[in-house]
Amino acid sequence: MSAPAERVLAPVPVPRVAVVTGAARGIGLAIAGRLAAEGHAVALWDLDPAAVEAAAAVLRAQHRAVAAVAVDISSAAQVRAALDDTVAALGRPALLVNNAAILGPNGPTVQVAPAAWQRVFDINVLGALHCVQAVVPMMVADGWGRVVNVASIAGKEGNPFAGAYAASKAALISLTKSLGKELAASGVLLNCITPSAADTEIFGTHDAAQRELLRQRLLERVPMQRFVRVEEVAEMAAWLCSPSCSFSTGAVFDISGGRAVY
Ligand SMILES: NC(=O)c1ccc[n+]([C@@H]2O[C@H](COP(=O)([O-])OP(=O)(O)OC[C@H]3O[C@@H](n4cnc5c(N)ncnc54)[C@H](O)[C@@H]3O)[C@@H](O)[C@H]2O)c1
Repeated sequence: MSAPAERVLAPVPVPRVAVVTGAARGIGLAIAGRLAAEGHAVALWDLDPAAVEAAAAVLRAQHRAVAAVAVDISSAAQVRAALDDTVAALGRPALLVNNAAILGPNGPTVQVAPAAWQRVFDINVLGALHCVQAVVPMMVADGWGRVVNVASIAGKEGNPFAGAYAASKAALISLTKSLGKELAASGVLLNCITPSAADTEIFGTHDAAQRELLRQRLLERVPMQRFVRVEEVAEMAAWLCSPSCSFSTGAVFDISGGRAVY
């Protein structure tokens, strides 16, 4: 069987246009900043209009093209409108980082309200799917693209008392594997990353004692005994967005300080 023709010459312009969801803070902001520092034009998509505009303003002071787009990714219509705004402002995206997510209910999984479970899936899974369905056909038409889905170690190992979150991340890992295989010969490569805990706002606000308890619980299984830095996650995402990532698709990249050995 002959291998499909390799697309060596990317028809899309370099630097490229990137969309990063959940980019107002935390890991998404670090990834957006890293891609902007490489010279890409970056659209920061986020639910929080004030925070995403403030984040974009900071990046704009240093980098050439940065757009802030307020969008709830759980709405397919809002995602399509966000893509229209992005194309008008910066051009057609060749890079997509599906990073936006919520932690959702924290408690015994047998007691979780189905509506709360559904909300986690609406954002963490369907939200990523909406972005893929809007953006990826454009990448396929252009013959080149990179998609990075930010999953979690929780999607591999499960997470007691955060069952909806862990299940949603397992779904995102599986979505990555299916799409990677479907699109393997298209020039569009899709991969996911599975960080262990980072010290961000996703865990909500806690008093000092609560925070220390959470810290101990999160770090007890990390051999390096520290949080992953958002810049470390951004470094991995940036490589997966680059042409240097040329023979990996549908793959799961560990960044867990030695916790995961698979
Ligand atoms: N922090 C961790 O310990 C950790 C570990 C592993 C994986 N992750 C994953 O990394 C990603 C980023 O996490 P973080 O810790 O930076 O979170 P964060 O809470 O600091 O930031 C998440 C951002 O997503 C945005 N967002 C939430 N719902 C949205 C929606 N419906 N539409 C658009 N934007 C929305 C929020 O406004 C926020 O700005 C998530 O996918 C998370 O699951 C985080």
